[in-house]
Amino acid sequence: METTSTKGLRLTAAYPYHAANYLVRAAITAPSLHNSQPWLFIGDRTCLDLYANPARQLPAADPDGRELVIGCGAALFNVRLAMRHLGFRPDVRVCPTRWNPAHLARIGWGPFGRAGANEELMHHALRARRTHRGPFQSPPLPQRLVDDLRRQARAEGADLYVVTDGNVRGHLAELVREAETIQRTDPAWRAELYHWTQEFTGTRLDGVPLATCTYHPDCVPFAGRDFLGLSATMPDPPEVWSEHTGLVAVLTTCYDTRVEWLQAGQALQRLLLHAAAHRVSAAFHTQPLELPRLRAQVRAGLLFGQFPQMILRLGHTRRGAPTPRRPATDVLRMRSESGGGATRLGTPRR
Ligand SMILES: Cc1cc2nc3c(=O)[nH]c(=O)nc-3n(C[C@H](O)[C@H](O)[C@H](O)COP(=O)(O)O)c2cc1C
Repeated sequence: METTSTKGLRLTAAYPYHAANYLVRAAITAPSLHNSQPWLFIGDRTCLDLYANPARQLPAADPDGRELVIGCGAALFNVRLAMRHLGFRPDVRVCPTRWNPAHLARIGWGPFGRAGANEELMHHALRARRTHRGPFQSPPLPQRLVDDLRRQARAEGADLYVVTDGNVRGHLAELVREAETIQRTDPAWRAELYHWTQEFTGTRLDGVPLATCTYHPDCVPFAGRDFLGLSATMPDPPEVWSEHTGLVAVLTTCYDTRVEWLQAGQALQRLLLHAAAHRVSAAFHTQPLELPRLRAQVRAGLLFGQFPQMILRLGHTRRGAPTPRRPATDVLRMRSESGGGATRLGTPRR
């Protein structure tokens, strides 16, 4: 049963579209694989429904939709945070429709409750957070912040395994390199990456703009995705910054169903926003988690059976170029008052 508060009802009854649009504008700042933005929202005066958009799933990199759901989980965390910023406690039900696996969450307006200082800091960081691709400045992150980041992940039911041992870090870097080599040489992967790469910045509202790939993908020991195709034209990077790798960590969950993927996404976004609020950025290296054999090796060799959901590096760097988003009107529909149908707002797009 939904526990929509009177104040929440009043707000959404008076301005159902504006309330939903406000939440969705926060949601779409979330990270997603290759900036595919695989979400859809349906709102009405009592709640906002989050759906996965299967048309935006990446068949080569993500055949099971695991990373798609992680991206949607990150968007879900943003919706919760935006509701908290407005002063309401979100009332979230995950995977609420058994027969429809695309229906990932229903977020209702819960009772009134002022947001905490940490929530406000994270909310403030929503638009400042950006994915980094390259080396980090050398000073290590303070241990207190590292402990805090772990706490943020745990608060969402996931865990952050910080790789401190040099041998383990080396082993993980080798698995990333092996996966990246496989993906660079496989035509299906290359075609998919090319499809999601924005050759000319500003020409589309999804995909990864080249302006965000300013370093050679092999300039740190953790191989990056080769969006620019540099490894073919320039096999040796001009500089290699081994000591500027940053903090290496793996986000894990105990199980591996859609519910945990959604949890992992919320944990990811929570720790990324907490990091961004402290001017810390993240780089991702999820390539080995996209190949079952290598994912099993990460799981068995490094994580004592926990399921790896994201591999990331964290550190200080200059703020990079932004990555565009489709507008909220493209991904939000309002349920019609008369009978269940949804009205799409804005220009219909995939
Ligand atoms: C599940 C998932 C996997 C990702 N994997 C990678 C990756 O392996 N390499 C990378 O450079 N970025 C990766 N990203 C980051 C996205 O490319 C990035 O979020 C997207 O381009 C939007 O940019 P922004 O995060 O700066 O807003 C991943 C993001 C998600 C949610």
